[in-house]
Amino acid sequence: MCGIFGYIGEDDALNTCILGLEQLEYRGYDSTGIAGIFDGNLQICKETGKLANLKQRLTFKTLQIAIGHTRWATHGKVTTANAHPHNDSQRTIALVHNGIIENWEELRDQLKKEGFVFVTETDTEVITQLVSKNYKGSLVDAVQTALPFLKGQFAIALIHKDHPDQIVASARNCPLSIGFNDTQTESIISSDLHAFLGKPLNVIFLRDDEVAKVERGKVSVFDKNLARIAKKLDKLDRDFKSPSKEGYEHFMLKEIYEQPTTIQKAYFGRVNDGCVLFEDLVLDLSATKNVWFIGCGTSAHAAAIGGNFFEEIAEIPAQVEIASEARYRMIPPGTLVVAMSQSGETADVLSAVREIKAKGHKILGICNVKNSTLTREVDACIFLNAGPEISVCSTKAFTSQITVLYLLALHLAKKGDFDALQLIPQHIQQVLENALWIEEKAKHYSRYQNFFFMGRRYMYPTCLEAALKLKEISYVNAVGYLGGEIKHGPIALIDENCPVLAFLANSQTESKMMGNLQEVKARGAPILAFAPKHLSSISTIADDVIWLPDTIDPLSPFASTVAGQLFAYFMAKTRKCDIDQPRNLAKSVTVE
Ligand code: AGP
Repeated sequence: MCGIFGYIGEDDALNTCILGLEQLEYRGYDSTGIAGIFDGNLQICKETGKLANLKQRLTFKTLQIAIGHTRWATHGKVTTANAHPHNDSQRTIALVHNGIIENWEELRDQLKKEGFVFVTETDTEVITQLVSKNYKGSLVDAVQTALPFLKGQFAIALIHKDHPDQIVASARNCPLSIGFNDTQTESIISSDLHAFLGKPLNVIFLRDDEVAKVERGKVSVFDKNLARIAKKLDKLDRDFKSPSKEGYEHFMLKEIYEQPTTIQKAYFGRVNDGCVLFEDLVLDLSATKNVWFIGCGTSAHAAAIGGNFFEEIAEIPAQVEIASEARYRMIPPGTLVVAMSQSGETADVLSAVREIKAKGHKILGICNVKNSTLTREVDACIFLNAGPEISVCSTKAFTSQITVLYLLALHLAKKGDFDALQLIPQHIQQVLENALWIEEKAKHYSRYQNFFFMGRRYMYPTCLEAALKLKEISYVNAVGYLGGEIKHGPIALIDENCPVLAFLANSQTESKMMGNLQEVKARGAPILAFAPKHLSSISTIADDVIWLPDTIDPLSPFASTVAGQLFAYFMAKTRKCDIDQPRNLAKSVTVE
């Protein structure tokens, strides 16, 4: 995923663009770039690596109008040439792009035959040259003419040296917000609202292939036929402020420590007089016979726990399909599909939702970002209310997702036993208060390069999630595995150089897990156990133990997960990894 930003207004456009890109850098940080107009000249500066590198390389001091970009590379290596913005051969147009143009090679070959010269390996440059080819004096017209040739998804912003008073923008299946102030002195374009820098703006969201001409404090939107269209205005809350670390060293640590609060926000106002009601649930779920969850990464792990809830609490059969595979499956008629996505922008989820919807299924979204693309594609959406999650490594969203899924299972079962869930924030607080012990264990195990994470029942998706955390921020090989499966082959990998992290907080499968631990101990594996306080016998097997509060099996993933998050955080810190922006990753993967 990439971040695009544009500014035209009374403030210095260059500086404002830098501030905007700082808020978007979590979307991708392989390279950054800014283009703008000053004194009738098109200025462009771009650099590999993070925004700090660009700031050092800037070749101009001010701009009247600017567009900027943070890149997560899809087509083309991470080089300065491939960094956005991309300009046309005459250096009159500059463009930034988030998304993928699927027919870029065909278009590029055609444009090359017409004499256009390409200097990058990107799909984006094709858009720039196509607009340049169609430019006859109106940038809006040129963009509108080019769009029908493009296959794929995009959010784009363009400037032209002959039009220093306007930025032209368009979008298709990619997020793009456009804001302008009441006094009509400034306008902002951004991939997400957090980059609006706390300014109280009127906001519009483009529908697919609409084109916007953005001037100082004014936005004109045109449809496919270049007819001017009126757009609904949203008002950005005045207290909508850009997220900050609030004193924590990393966003990830802040978001881990937010969880006692965010879990309460996930259930606040949704449990009254012993029954669960969702304010956004406009779908009638009473006839639900079975459920298919779709999601990716952490969201898929939350879905797996949710599937257990649905079966155990509501006695509704449930299964999880990884979104990139779901489109190939035959989903039985009458199935409720639940699309899980923190960002609401994950391309694999969006593509699956569109295909499944086309087959006539009802889809419920569970999401953390209002106005995200997923919220517009599903039949109903329940929000996590967890607040912006900035760290690429998802933490608070996961525990909020399983909170919502637990409530949804209670809702479907028409049950209200909610007392155990109300204790969870305190349980998590107890884990957070044990952080120094967890940090000590992480430092002790930081010398290893390979790990097995092991669990059964509710602890299986929990251990998958804990393993993912460790992989993505510490860059070590961490494999989550079913406790009962290790002996069917993977145990061949177990030796004194391969610690086993055992997640035991599932009373139903405790004795079997203890047996699995004897098997790996016999092969010399160091064992770190994440165990409930009542399981004192684990101390005779494990080399180290991280103790957890006792709770019922369905709610055991909460404390175990937070302990796993802290373990991964401190391991990454010990290994001096980039915690909030790990290499090769982005906060939301908007390509398939
Ligand atoms: C989680 O730590 C990862 N960054 C990643 O697996 C993420 O959960 C996945 O890309 C899905 O994102 P989504 O929830 O925004 O759809």
